[in-house]
Amino acid sequence: MGQPDRTLRSRRTAIAAAVVGLCLAGLAIAAWQPWHAGSVEDPAAVSSGRALAQACAVCHALERGAPPRVGPPLWGVVGRPVGSVDGFGYSHTLATAEGSWTPERLDHFLANPAAALPGNAMTFVGMADADDRARVIAFLRTLSD
Ligand code: HEC
Repeated sequence: MGQPDRTLRSRRTAIAAAVVGLCLAGLAIAAWQPWHAGSVEDPAAVSSGRALAQACAVCHALERGAPPRVGPPLWGVVGRPVGSVDGFGYSHTLATAEGSWTPERLDHFLANPAAALPGNAMTFVGMADADDRARVIAFLRTLSD
């Protein structure tokens, strides 16, 4: 065996290791992603999210077509532009906020509403537990046509 052969073999080994590594990383991300993005496919998350969302239902209607209460209705909120429900009197903060409610943005907002969007009018302390937020967001994702 000459030197070039060994180099080739070790290069092949390195490539194979890299491929395996990438596959494992892909699997890890695939396993992690749905849950943390608030997966609708996880029925256990959705059902505990529904129970946790009773804390939101004090102020927010959750049913399709329901009118605003203290807060704007949450039907279709995932993907909806921030501060966009017609006829709801948003604070200046929400009325002028840009973008839409992605699961990630909801997660950030619900962790600490006052800090996430200073000046907003939602008098809710927030949900400290990241898993609870993921469950609520999984449930909110089911509130759509
Ligand atoms: C004490 C009443 C109250 C509770 C409890 C409450 N909210 Fe709110 N929420 C509001 C109000 C009022 C607003 C409007 C805030 C503004 O205009 O600044 C709001 C706004 C929101 C918005 C922005 C909606 C939009 O159309 O841009 C989201 C999302 C939201 N709440 C989610 C939740 C979730 C999820 C929960 C439960 C974990 C919850 N809220 C609990 C009162 C509440």
